[in-house]
Amino acid sequence: MEQDLVTEAGVRPVSRRAFIEGSLAVVGAAGLQLPLWAQPLGRPVLPLLFGVDYYPDHTPESLWEEDARMIADAGLTNVRIAEFAWGLMEPSEGKFEFGWLKKSCDILNKNKIAIILGTPSAAPPPWLSKKYPEIMEVDEKGQKLHTGGRRFTCPSNKTYRRLSVAIATEMAKNFSDTPGVIGWQIDNEMTLGSSRRCYCDYCQQGFQDWVRTKYGSLDKVNQAWGTVFWSQTYTDFSQIPVPLPSGGDPNPGLALDYDRYQSYANASFIEEQLAVLRKLCPKHFVTTNNVSLLDVIDLREHYAKLDFASLDNYPGFFDMLMRESKVEMPPDAISAMIAMSHDFARCIKRKPFMIMEEQSGKAGQKTFSPQPAPGQVRLWTYQAVAHGAMGVNYFRWDTATFGAEEYWHGMLNHDRSKSPAFEEMKQTVRELKGLGQELLYSEYPAEMALVFDYNSSWAVSIQPQHFALSYMNQVTAWYGSISPNHSGVDFVAPDGDWSAYKIVYAPLAHVITAAQAEKIKSYVQNGGVFVAGFRSGVKNESSQMVKTPLPGLLAELMGTTVEDYVPIYGAKQSVKFAGMLAGWAAECGLWADVLKPNGAEVLGTYTTGSYAGKPAITMNNVGKGKAVYVGADVTGEGLANLLGKFAGMAGVKQSLQAPRGVEVTVRRAGGKEWMFLLNNGAEATSVTVPGGFRDAVSGKAYSEKVELKGFDARVLLAG
Ligand code: GLA
Ligand code: ZN
Repeated sequence: MEQDLVTEAGVRPVSRRAFIEGSLAVVGAAGLQLPLWAQPLGRPVLPLLFGVDYYPDHTPESLWEEDARMIADAGLTNVRIAEFAWGLMEPSEGKFEFGWLKKSCDILNKNKIAIILGTPSAAPPPWLSKKYPEIMEVDEKGQKLHTGGRRFTCPSNKTYRRLSVAIATEMAKNFSDTPGVIGWQIDNEMTLGSSRRCYCDYCQQGFQDWVRTKYGSLDKVNQAWGTVFWSQTYTDFSQIPVPLPSGGDPNPGLALDYDRYQSYANASFIEEQLAVLRKLCPKHFVTTNNVSLLDVIDLREHYAKLDFASLDNYPGFFDMLMRESKVEMPPDAISAMIAMSHDFARCIKRKPFMIMEEQSGKAGQKTFSPQPAPGQVRLWTYQAVAHGAMGVNYFRWDTATFGAEEYWHGMLNHDRSKSPAFEEMKQTVRELKGLGQELLYSEYPAEMALVFDYNSSWAVSIQPQHFALSYMNQVTAWYGSISPNHSGVDFVAPDGDWSAYKIVYAPLAHVITAAQAEKIKSYVQNGGVFVAGFRSGVKNESSQMVKTPLPGLLAELMGTTVEDYVPIYGAKQSVKFAGMLAGWAAECGLWADVLKPNGAEVLGTYTTGSYAGKPAITMNNVGKGKAVYVGADVTGEGLANLLGKFAGMAGVKQSLQAPRGVEVTVRRAGGKEWMFLLNNGAEATSVTVPGGFRDAVSGKAYSEKVELKGFDARVLLAG
């Protein structure tokens, strides 16, 4: 019998069949692995996730019912639990106790709260590290980490892997059919340890095996790395070291391969648990959570076999960290970095992602950020959805009264009263649920793309060439310069599919392979605009210097070579623009590639320093497209002017003009378009919209000016 059900948003009754068919279509269109949300939970539930990170393991059992009731009353759909509860689930080796967790799941499920279970490998219990001290990570100075914290383990160590798989297997067996359980988070933030990499003996052995598989012979290894330098020729794989302090810098080729190995080790660690979960829990989705844009490990590799990417997002905490490190930033820098990190998360798998943890209050361990201003938690939630999130979990439910995160505030205060942002979160969830799953699985149209290349990032970290030069900073500056265009930016891999983009930007495209150079050439020939930054095409994939004039494999396409390359240590230099850019000047910060065009048009010239009068920026017509070389490290407004101008030239449409600090993004599905207006500033402002719109939440009609309060967020629908 067809059963009617009311969606949780309480919008309109739909039949179960129509609901499931609709969900499947939407989920299928978004490319998510089926069956995912559409798996009936035995009760009507929208395929939305607006939840909270919950720790029944920190809470007396007598409060679990109350917690579940309050979570449900707040309109939340799900929790993420147990990701740090190894000690409770396996109090001694091979002895498993899941009674408490089953009871908690049962209570949650009765309150219609879906459950994402975490596998607990990020924090092995004391019995384990005492019995198997070899599992400890070794940092970049060669020092072993100690127990007492978390994330102190080696990703390659076989014992740690075996025990991690064992607890994940027991969990999977025990919870594959538990009502309410919908998915898994493997481990927790593998990218965020105290050391970027592990350098232990097990990693060394793993690296040697990885190198053997990659190269096949020692001759090839020695050639790729140029080991004749400093008498490093290896005559046996077992001689290959890891890049620990050694009286001189490591071989750059070896160091780059070590970064790749560590990325592989982390991904394969995840995949061991994934294999078990896929087998035992075929109805559940599987993900893992990370901070999105850090270059510690290659997140594209990390998420390759998982269902979707998940991100942890703490804008206020991040702001505090930046202040603590005395990094000077323009006022909208944090929101731009968060937007960038969301855009990257969406592009990891080119599909909607999830915010596994969203800051909900004061955040920090020993010191903490202030309470988010009224409206800010709502704004962060909208910002995530605006950039492609399909769900958001607030971190965390109740605030811990013990342990290292006593000051990481949640939705409830220490005395279990509601936190200052509690009602705001409730309202936000109600609003977003009202917009429906169609929005959450919609696409994010983008005409521009920014290349993020882990090889270039790692190669530049290994040899920055200028003490202040960093790949991440360059990418951040370029993102910050093109995003105010409000036409959507995707992140792409150098080997990814670029055909959908009118323009592709590649700051500091340091490592270029022959295949990538060919691909870039055909992208431009077919009408694309490709804009590369200084120090591009300098190295091959083994981190060896190219032997032809720079920018190496890109020189012909660019129609220019680099006559000299100059790190700038004194005052900033200046550049004067010409041609289509005439009338502007800009500062040149850390670097000057002095160009010698060979067919390309000069669009900028150095005006200071010993290279005054020499070309700094060139553009070459190739086939139907254009190749631009930005040889100067153009900074600030100058960079925004420059990169924006190229977007215009490529025919990128700007959705509308908005004041600085206001983000405009669009999500689109089935002919419907949602326009997000996000005021990241504390001051009220307004945006002029073209034509008639209505507020998707309040229904209010707008024909011209939309007023935005400080930290306001609005979603508009055309018509
Ligand atoms: C991270 C972790 C959580 C918790 C929060 C707050 O993102 O994933 O376990 O530590 O931060 O510190
Ligand atoms: Zn290790």
